[in-house]
Amino acid sequence: MAYRRARSLIAPAARIFKPIDVPNKLLTGPGPCNVPPRILAAGALPQLSHLHPDVWKIMDDITEGVKYVFQTENKWTFAMSGSGHAAMEAACLNLVEPNERVMIANCGMWGKRFTTMVQRAGGDAREIKKPLGEVFSLEDIEEGLKKHKPVLLFITQGESSSGALQPLEGVGELCHKYNCLLLVDSVASLGGTPMFMDEWGIDIMYSGSQKCLSTPPGTAPISLNERAREKVTRRKTPPISFYFDFKELANFWGFDDPPRRYHHTCPTSCFYALREGLAMVAAEGLEASWKRHEEVTAQFHKGLGELGLELFVKNKEHRLNTVTAIDLPKGLDWKVVQKYAMDTYKLEISAGLGPSSGVVGRFGFLGYNANLENVRRVLRALNEGLDVARKEAEKSKL
Ligand code: GLV
Repeated sequence: MAYRRARSLIAPAARIFKPIDVPNKLLTGPGPCNVPPRILAAGALPQLSHLHPDVWKIMDDITEGVKYVFQTENKWTFAMSGSGHAAMEAACLNLVEPNERVMIANCGMWGKRFTTMVQRAGGDAREIKKPLGEVFSLEDIEEGLKKHKPVLLFITQGESSSGALQPLEGVGELCHKYNCLLLVDSVASLGGTPMFMDEWGIDIMYSGSQKCLSTPPGTAPISLNERAREKVTRRKTPPISFYFDFKELANFWGFDDPPRRYHHTCPTSCFYALREGLAMVAAEGLEASWKRHEEVTAQFHKGLGELGLELFVKNKEHRLNTVTAIDLPKGLDWKVVQKYAMDTYKLEISAGLGPSSGVVGRFGFLGYNANLENVRRVLRALNEGLDVARKEAEKSKL
């Protein structure tokens, strides 16, 4: 067929003829982290079709790897084609039917976000709240369960906006006593802090690839136990999203009898990378990975104290080993510190997120980046950056 010649084509911008330019930076914010060579190399392996059995084998490896890092034996254990946010929304759309009541533990960014998702899905969202930097006790949770009688509780293990670690032991048991399912967000904590999905009675959990799994963003491990699976399979109406439909995805991931039906064209290169990220955690050993994050972050906290900086989470027991938040130093412009660190050391120091914007500065030593050399680099950059910010503050007073 002959194409009619356009009178004039819209020309490409001149800059796209130049090769892509990606600077090398040290990602010591709340994620993503830098990706190790083995995982980068995996992402560059030959492209295969999502319908080739070779890819199914890689998907089976991912299932096994996720079972290990989640510490679960759940059959429905897989990865979403999308970031942790995709898994969060998928959990909402599959587990919440219109008008069903969901209780959300909101102490920062992620609870608020899940409330919005539940409301958009037509669910009845009820929040229990704690101030930023604090977490929920079993008493808080039980009181909420009695009052709201929800079918689902959403709670975040690692609140990356504040650096708080939510204890989870006993939460599953409580939920089940009140006929409620437990959904946990472990995006900012998985691989860096202990997690025992089955032992803790967590019914649904998701995470992200880009934090302690050292993998590029774009895939999100997720797992559902039998209770959650039953809720999904007994829905009165199918979920509004086809892309996020867990029943379809379960077939696509090979959990039903063969053959696997086409569902979507999955990001195969991202799956290779995730497979390698999980393999690297397995090679190190989960407990060794938790310990490394604990030790590295403890050293960082010590260094922050020596610089006269205050951790935002006041209860030592409730501090994450992965993302750290500090009180913003008074009278100084944090952006000056961030800019100094980036311009001078090409390293990332972050600001707050959502409710913690303008309240905290944030750091993360995640996955591949959790080592003492990085801690020293960040502390040096921070020390010098604070000096620059102090001088600028002095100047502006004159
Ligand atoms: C994102 O996960 C963030 O905490 O900034």
